[in-house]
Amino acid sequence: MRAVTYDSYADPRLTVGEVPEPKVGPGSVLVEVRAAGVNPVDWKAMAGGLDPLMDAVFPVIPGWDVAGVVRGRGPDVPEFAPGDEVMAYARKEILRDGTFAQYVAVPAAHVALKPVALDWEQAGGLPLAGMTAQRSLDRLDIGHDDVLLVHAASAGVGGFAVQIARSRGARVIGTASEPNHDYLRELGAEPVAYGDGLADRVRDLAPDGVSAVADFVGGQLATTLAVLRPGGRHTSVADREVEEHGGHWIWVRPDGAKLALLSDLVEQGALTVDVAGTFSLDEVGAAFDASRSGHTRGKLVITP
Ligand SMILES: NC(=O)c1ccc[n+]([C@@H]2O[C@H](COP(=O)([O-])OP(=O)(O)OC[C@H]3O[C@@H](n4cnc5c(N)ncnc54)[C@H](OP(=O)(O)O)[C@@H]3O)[C@@H](O)[C@H]2O)c1
Repeated sequence: MRAVTYDSYADPRLTVGEVPEPKVGPGSVLVEVRAAGVNPVDWKAMAGGLDPLMDAVFPVIPGWDVAGVVRGRGPDVPEFAPGDEVMAYARKEILRDGTFAQYVAVPAAHVALKPVALDWEQAGGLPLAGMTAQRSLDRLDIGHDDVLLVHAASAGVGGFAVQIARSRGARVIGTASEPNHDYLRELGAEPVAYGDGLADRVRDLAPDGVSAVADFVGGQLATTLAVLRPGGRHTSVADREVEEHGGHWIWVRPDGAKLALLSDLVEQGALTVDVAGTFSLDEVGAAFDASRSGHTRGKLVITP
């Protein structure tokens, strides 16, 4: 099958070529990839950023998101059948068999049916970022009494967080640069510009402060603490330092049942996926460059 690979952390050049098709072992399904979302972790991992946590077996196929069609299943997997249209956050214990390929084997427990309302590119962009937003809001126990500040609300993760929080009835204030403010309004958030004076701008909108903050960019702790009401809750996916200030550091974990809850939200019309750009396997480097810019809106997606 065709796949993108890199051979080392030291000189991580992306190559497109033929590699063996994965076996579909017990507990797994073989997915023919139709679309695979790009996440910052893909190029951070390629630079060795996860080396303290995970072993790599080179050549590594990058990519942790997938939407596609089940083509095979392990002997103990009755819950999926060939032809099922599915999606998954397909992180493994080691870096090796990613999703920027024609096929990927994924643990069945990490797989959910693809919502009919999403096309392939949208479904490929949902799992990792959507479940990161979901996990953050679950940890914050966001409900209809909350005023939530979302740092990086136009980002892949932040855009999902705005929509999920709105579906739970919360009022949402979201940060983005000025050109993305109408976009935030469409998602259901009240926009504020990030940068100097952010805490004052948030207080203009919420004079009593906010009850919760979800940070999806990092470097926001001072503002977070300045705008939180006494007893307020906060999370970050990017700053572990929040733990020293009563906050929670969030790491997303593959979970098919949780992903199915996002699928339900999609089918209810409460959640959609904005695709910022689509790239072929030969263009993964360009997709990584776009992601590294830190200013894409919505999700970048690879289609093999
Ligand atoms: N811990 C975990 O489990 C986990 C999971 C997923 C992601 N992450 C991390 O979370 C971060 C975000 O991921 P992502 O996929 O959402 O990234 P992304 O989509 O690439 O983020 C791009 C967005 O960030 C916005 N942005 C940039 N600087 C900002 C700032 N200072 N304040 C507010 N918004 C800002 C940009 O808006 P403008 O264009 O308007 O500037 C743009 O819309 C990454 O560091 C990623 O590695 C962690």
